Amino acid sequence: GTLPPFANQPPVDFSRSENRDRMRAALGSVREQLGLDLPLLIGAEQVRTDDRIVSENPSNSQVVVALASKASREHADRALAIAEKAAPSWSSRPARERADVLLRAAEILRGRLFELAAWEVFECAKPWPEATADVDEAIDFCEFYARRMIELASPRRRDVPGETNRLEYFGRGVAAVIPPWNFPLAIPCGMTVAALVAGCPVVLKPAEQSPAMAWHLVRILREAGAPPEVVQYLPGEGEEAGAALVEDPRTAIIAFTGSKAVGLAINRTAAEVRPGQPHVKRVIAEMGGKNAVIIDDDADLDEAVVGVLSSAFGYAGQKCSAASRAIVLEGVYDTFVSRLAAALPSWTVGPADDPDTAVPPVINREALDRVERYKQIARAEGRVVAEAVLGPLRDRGHYVGPLIVADVSPHARIAQEEIFGPVLAVIRARDLDEALQIANGVEYALVGGLYSRSPAHIETVRRRFLVGNLYINRPCTGALVDRQPFGGFKMSGIGTKAGGPDYLLEFLLARSITENT
Ligand code: NAD
Ligand code: ALA
Repeated sequence: GTLPPFANQPPVDFSRSENRDRMRAALGSVREQLGLDLPLLIGAEQVRTDDRIVSENPSNSQVVVALASKASREHADRALAIAEKAAPSWSSRPARERADVLLRAAEILRGRLFELAAWEVFECAKPWPEATADVDEAIDFCEFYARRMIELASPRRRDVPGETNRLEYFGRGVAAVIPPWNFPLAIPCGMTVAALVAGCPVVLKPAEQSPAMAWHLVRILREAGAPPEVVQYLPGEGEEAGAALVEDPRTAIIAFTGSKAVGLAINRTAAEVRPGQPHVKRVIAEMGGKNAVIIDDDADLDEAVVGVLSSAFGYAGQKCSAASRAIVLEGVYDTFVSRLAAALPSWTVGPADDPDTAVPPVINREALDRVERYKQIARAEGRVVAEAVLGPLRDRGHYVGPLIVADVSPHARIAQEEIFGPVLAVIRARDLDEALQIANGVEYALVGGLYSRSPAHIETVRRRFLVGNLYINRPCTGALVDRQPFGGFKMSGIGTKAGGPDYLLEFLLARSITENT
C-alpha cells in the first residue's frame, strides 16, 4: 500500500523520568554484554580471525566493549566475489521489496532504540541525548530513502504521438561503504541503506573505533530481510581491508565519510582503472570541516553564547559539523568573549554514561594526543580566556578539557586546520564584510552559522557564506534527514547531500528507453 509521508523520528525527551529509567535499564543490560565477540560476516558465514580489533570504552579505557575479527585482503576478495554475484538479482527485485527491508529495519531500530543508544554510550562515549539522536537519524535514513526509491522507481514518461520515452534507474553495482566512528550508527546506516535500496550489494568496512555499532546494524538489516550476500560485515584496518575494497575492480561505488586526507587518497586510488574493471568507479566522499559562526554586533548574545558553546563542545567537538571558529564583530567582541568564558564551567566534562555529562572524553589515545597538541598550539596562537580543569578523571579515560582562545589570527593553524576536539578559536572582525572573508578563507566548506537580528545582514550572509549547510540564529550541528540535507563542498566533500532527495542518484545509473509505436 501507499506509505504515510516521511516524518522525522521525534527526539527522546530525557526530562521525562520514564525515559531516564529506560536509558538506565538499557545501560545496565548492555553493561552485562560488554566484551562482545564479533566475527566477520562474509555471505552466510561467520569468520573468526586470530588478529583482533579491540574496541574500548573511551570513558573508562580498561573496559573492552567488543573484540572484532580483523579482515585481511583475502577476506575482502571473498566478500566482493559474493557481492558481485548477488548484484544482478538484488538489483532486479522490485524497488518496493528493497524499500520494505528498510522499513522493517526502521521498525527494529525503533524497538531497540534505548539498547542501541546504550551501546553507543559505551563504544563511542556519546552522551545520552546524542546517542539516542544517532539512532533516530538511522531510523530517518531508512524511512526517507525507502520512500525516495519508491518515487524514483516509477519511470519518468515523456510520450509524444508515435513514440514512448521512459527513464529507468538501476543500481550501479557493488558498493564499498567506509564510515567514520563519530555517528557510529547513523552514518554507516545511511550509506548502507541508500546503496541497498538502490539495488547495490554492500560490503561494510566499519571504522576501527566502532565495530560493535556496525555489527548491530548489519544484523538488523539481515533480520529485516536483506540477504546475507547483499550486506556483509568486514571490520578491519582502513589501510588493509578498506584499501582492498577501494582498489578492487569489482567495486563500482565507494561511499566514504571521514577525514580529508583519507577521502582524497580514496578518490585518487579509485580513479585508477585496473585490469578487468568494467566501469569508472563513483566516489562519494564526505570529509572534514573548519566551521565558523559569525556573531553580528546586533546578535542576541544569550542565544549566541549558548549556541556557539553547544556547537563547539557537544560530543567534545568530534562532529564534522562542530563550530571551531567564532568570528565576532568588533562592537560586541569583548562582551561576547567574556560571556562565553563565563559560561564554560557549565559544560561539565565526565563519563558518557553519566546523564549530567556535557563533554565526554574523546574517542581514543591518538585523538587525545592530537587534541592536546593543538591545545599547545592554541595557547601560543591566541589568548586563553577559559579552560576546563579535569582533576582525577584524567587517568580513567581519554578526557580533555575544552579550551577557548581569543584574538586568533584568521591565518593561524588553529583557525585553518580541523582539530576534531573541544578547542574554539575566537577571531575579531571589523565588519560583516571582513567576517565573511575570514569565514570563507579556509579550504573547507561544510557548515556555517550566523547570529544576527539584521535582515539585511542575514541576506548578505545567505548569499555570500559558502557552506553546504548554513544555520541562522541556531546551533550549527544536528542536521535532520529531509529537513536539512547534509554535506559540503571544497575540501569538505564532493557535494552529495546525505538525507536529501538527490542522494540515491549517486548509487543509480539510468537508461532512457524509446519505442516507436
Ligand atoms: P578517517 O578518515 O580516519 O577514517 C574513516 C574511515 O576510513 C575508517 O573506516 C577508516 O578505517 C577508513 N580508512 C582509513 N584509511 C583508509 C584507506 N587508505 N583506504 C580505505 N579506507 C580507509 O576518519 P575518522 O577519524 O573515522 O572520522 C573523523 C573525520 O570524519 C573528520 O575529519 C570528520 O570531519 C569527518 N566526518 C565528516 C562527515 C561529513 O558528513 N562530512 C561526517 C562525520 C565525520
Ligand atoms: N549530520 C551531522 C550534524 O549535522 C554531522 O551534526
